[in-house]
Amino acid sequence: MINWLRERPEIRYFGILPKADSWLASLWWLVLATRGLLPALFAVAMGSLVGAVNDGDDLTLPLTMVGSVFVLLQVLSPIHLVLSANLGSRTAAWLYDELTLACLSPPGMAHLENPRHINDLTMARDFDLGISGPPLSISMDFIASGLVEFIGGLSSAIVLFFFAWWAPLLLGGAWLSTHWLLRESGVWKDRNTDQVQSAQRQADYAYRIAVDPPAAKELRLFGLSDWIVARFQGSRQLLHDLRWEATRLRERSVALSMVVVILANVVVFMAMANAAMDGEIGLDQMVTFAAAAFSTSMIAFGGLSWALDGAAAPAGSVLRLREQMAPTARLAQGERSGLGMPHQSVAFEQVTFSYPGFTTPVLKNFSLNIPAGSSLAIVGSNGAGKTTLAKLLCRLYDPTEGGIRIDGTPLVGLELSSWRRQVAAVFQDFIRFELTLRENVAPLGAPDSDIVASLVAAGAADFTGLDTVLAKAYRGGVDLSGGQWQRIALARALCAVRQGARLVLLDEPTAQLDVRGEMEIFDRILDATREVTTILISHRFSTVRRADRICVLEAGRVIELGSHEQLMASGGRYRTMFDLQAARFAGPKAGEAVDGLD
Ligand SMILES: Nc1ncnc2c1ncn2[C@@H]1O[C@H](COP(=O)(O)OP(=O)(O)OP(=O)(O)O)[C@@H](O)[C@H]1O
Ligand SMILES: [Mg+2]
Repeated sequence: MINWLRERPEIRYFGILPKADSWLASLWWLVLATRGLLPALFAVAMGSLVGAVNDGDDLTLPLTMVGSVFVLLQVLSPIHLVLSANLGSRTAAWLYDELTLACLSPPGMAHLENPRHINDLTMARDFDLGISGPPLSISMDFIASGLVEFIGGLSSAIVLFFFAWWAPLLLGGAWLSTHWLLRESGVWKDRNTDQVQSAQRQADYAYRIAVDPPAAKELRLFGLSDWIVARFQGSRQLLHDLRWEATRLRERSVALSMVVVILANVVVFMAMANAAMDGEIGLDQMVTFAAAAFSTSMIAFGGLSWALDGAAAPAGSVLRLREQMAPTARLAQGERSGLGMPHQSVAFEQVTFSYPGFTTPVLKNFSLNIPAGSSLAIVGSNGAGKTTLAKLLCRLYDPTEGGIRIDGTPLVGLELSSWRRQVAAVFQDFIRFELTLRENVAPLGAPDSDIVASLVAAGAADFTGLDTVLAKAYRGGVDLSGGQWQRIALARALCAVRQGARLVLLDEPTAQLDVRGEMEIFDRILDATREVTTILISHRFSTVRRADRICVLEAGRVIELGSHEQLMASGGRYRTMFDLQAARFAGPKAGEAVDGLD
């Protein structure tokens, strides 16, 4: 029972409040409890006032009581409103912090791709934007009012014990039963079905596409604005309809509730009238009990279940993500420091790898030895597994079978953060920080001389000043072209090499550069990374020829390996593709792609 209670989303939600702000939460509960007791106190005070008037007693005390309760009833409500709004905002902030930690703290990244988590993530990510329910700063006041009424009803019912033991049970039970009879309307039980979650995701996606700048070009060019708006409205309408159908008040339940409540009230008020007529209770008691019986109705189903469900559901998603994401992306790690590695070799040994949740392997028994200090180019068609190799080296995932050894030590035996400090990578979808140029090149800081030297090596020295923000939305900020951004990303990797990184992974680092720029930049990269191990991934054969060795990858296997000269001499796939691309660069024919294996 205790465990069941503890697992209830509503109880878990209340457990969050003191974590968000313990003082505010205590004050919120204190005011709530006081407000909850006021209706019962008011009934008692009114009874004693009427009694005093009836008996001709001194009215000072009863009047003071009635007055105090009345003033508290008026004053506490706006104070509680402010407390609720603040506590709601802080709880939302706490939940957002938890969500950010749930996403960012696991060392791997499988948790962000797991379909089981994606649904929770959709619900959790925007829970306070008011799309699926009111933000917490507002719903906390609904919850407060609902709880005040509930406690007010209960405390009034307790007063009725002094009339007859069965009266609070009958009346309280009748009003309480409305929660059960109307429970479907309060709690959206089916909010986690596939249909609801997919509608939520589609609404979320359409919304993002509509408001995020990157999609703006194509949306306009292809005239998709109305289509996106229609999709957004359609998904929201579907969500609304599903919610309405699941939580609308049902006629039968409403009728049954009314019958139960009317019967209980008739019985209690008739008994009260009889007792008064028989002289068993005086006028003062009559007033108190009648007021208490009246206030017991506050127990009834109101906005509480609905508001609590709306707040507890997304909060539950955040807590679930926090608990479940970490194990999904947990990576084993050893004690041995990876500092200074590799100084001998990086070796893939019979590596087989499938992405979590997929059974088809992307890499199959992949073996490759890369001597430290050398450069290796990996070429292969789209989907061959090139980026996957880079991700495995960064230990964003671990091989399903086989393993990677660095200087003979299994990669999983190295202490993770020290290894990651040895790796500098530019991925195809590299990050573009809306920060200054300096921070883009060295997010964790580096001497300006290293930053400038890296920018020079990447051909990005004359773009803008180090303190300029690389986003036009900021004061004095600038927008860069795709190729310029790529050079900045390269400078980031080269700067990491200057700070001690020993393995450089460049995944299509020049895909957005013009041909002349690409040749020149490859030469500069190879010069700047001469002392370290460099892995270049590229589609363009002409640019990788200067690498010490070239590996042709197909469907997760090495099909050719050697220097440019060796591979050209062997006349295999590399030769065919190299000649094809060289011919196209010499004079592209209509309808032919200019670069790439595909
Ligand atoms: N996160 C992922 N989850 C599941 N499958 C993935 C994931 N990333 C890649 N894949 C699959 O793994 C295969 C290899 O992908 P990878 O990105 O390594 O190819 P690539 O050689 O880098 O291709 P490209 O030249 O297009 O960049 C592809 O079939 C792709 O669909
Ligand atoms: Mg790739």
